[in-house]
Amino acid sequence: MQPVENLRWWQRGVVYQIYPRSFKDTTGNGVGDLQGVIEKLDYLHDLGIDAIWLSPFYPSPMADFGYDVADYCDVDPLFGDLATFDRLVAEAHSRGLKIIIDWVPNHTSDQHPWFIESRSSRDNPKRDWYIWRDTPNNWGSFFGGPAWTYDAQTGQYYLHQFCKEQPELNWRNPEVKAAMLDTLRFWMKRGVDGFRMDVIGLLIKDKDLRDNPPNPNAPPNLPENDLFSRLLQVYNMYQDENHAVMREIRQVLDEYDDRCAIGELWGPLSEWVRYYGEHGDELHLPFNFRLMDGMTWNAQQMRAVVDSLEAALPDFAWPNYVLGNHDRTRLATRFGGEAQARVAAMLLLTLRGTPTIYYGEEIGMEDVPIPPDKIQDPQGINLGPERTRDVCRTPMQWDAGPNAGFSPAGVETWLPIAADYVTRNVAALSADPHSILTLYKRLLRLRRATPALYGGSYRPLDVEPDNVYVYLRKADAQRYLIALNFATEPRTLAIPGETGGRILLSTHLDREEAVSLDALSLRANEGVIIAL
Ligand code: NOJ
Repeated sequence: MQPVENLRWWQRGVVYQIYPRSFKDTTGNGVGDLQGVIEKLDYLHDLGIDAIWLSPFYPSPMADFGYDVADYCDVDPLFGDLATFDRLVAEAHSRGLKIIIDWVPNHTSDQHPWFIESRSSRDNPKRDWYIWRDTPNNWGSFFGGPAWTYDAQTGQYYLHQFCKEQPELNWRNPEVKAAMLDTLRFWMKRGVDGFRMDVIGLLIKDKDLRDNPPNPNAPPNLPENDLFSRLLQVYNMYQDENHAVMREIRQVLDEYDDRCAIGELWGPLSEWVRYYGEHGDELHLPFNFRLMDGMTWNAQQMRAVVDSLEAALPDFAWPNYVLGNHDRTRLATRFGGEAQARVAAMLLLTLRGTPTIYYGEEIGMEDVPIPPDKIQDPQGINLGPERTRDVCRTPMQWDAGPNAGFSPAGVETWLPIAADYVTRNVAALSADPHSILTLYKRLLRLRRATPALYGGSYRPLDVEPDNVYVYLRKADAQRYLIALNFATEPRTLAIPGETGGRILLSTHLDREEAVSLDALSLRANEGVIIAL
């Protein structure tokens, strides 16, 4: 256990993800921008988060909404310019907020000057900066179709595991590596505190680009073009050689003070945990999606995931938890609705490890149905409407006015606004002492003020009734009990070895009282934090 006073900002703090297109539009074009983020910094500060992660704002043709980068060292005019970015960093820092930016090292846009050169001829010096082959292997794209596109001009195929507009860089080429590592330095010199590194497990591919084996568990009825899910992802990701690259990336971050490397990773726990590095010399935080992906709303299941994670972590490794992001169904929709979302918020903000909140979770935003002709996401366009990620990327709901206060009146926003925005918005929920937004604020305040919650140990407790998750957080003499009822009926629990305590916070926001712990009553979907 690390003493709480030694914890770094990215261990104590709470990260808040902003999808800039969808946060606040200040130019009236229906798309959010960096100035919009600046204008909402007071809101974020008041909410009580510690760091902002910005999804990509780089110049981009937007084939994958910014994950197709045409210049790693600039800002797309849609979002502002470098001067706006610098102001955002300064304004955030003046409020004590850190800035984490997305870094997309696996692929560029096909409009990046490097790729334009690379595809211009077979003997161009940048030819080897990308992955070109005479014959494609059997790999499929995450977004449907093959992972290779034929380029008629030079008669070869290039690799892209996402859109065909996202050619993959060849990280085995030392010049590529050096150029990409320099982009990290560019942003750290501008004051950026950390990076969220996109699909970081994909950088190094099998040297011989071998065919992937068939996936015996591929779900039936896959769309015909879903070649990806029909294969096991053996040779296209998580290669052993990738770890040497992670260490080089980390060394670049370590050239600067106190920066943080977060990586987007999934896969089995045994592979995932290796990304902390054998000696803690790779990522600070491999993003942990284990409470999100494939999970149903069940206390025993959640506890099993947390316990297996805690057991797998080496001493130096700091945990983290994510319940939603711009690629997944919103948590309120996934877990059932606001009642479950409140308990999920208490779970996320009281587990041991860095939590990441996705914008809008604090007001209980749900997936927004997108009419088929309004689908923007390439994944939804290629693999079918039920796979579109647009549902979780709709504009933030600020108030009950036109366009929910996201864009000026009369503007068509880039994605539709949720039908419930008149009641589910920041202004309305801020004024309501029992709202989910108030719950988030109170949880964040309590967490920040309580070493046991932001830095203490975690110990699960066995309790009798099912579908209840109870754990202890402890730092020195400070002890807190968290009891979460996942069931839609009330539960009464006897907490082993404890007699009484005081409820500091209930997800219902109506209960602060001394309680006896030999018969603790929880209402349906109620979570409580108890000081012991
Ligand atoms: C993961 C990102 O989160 C997702 O939005 C994107 O489409 C792919 N990587 C490709 O960059």
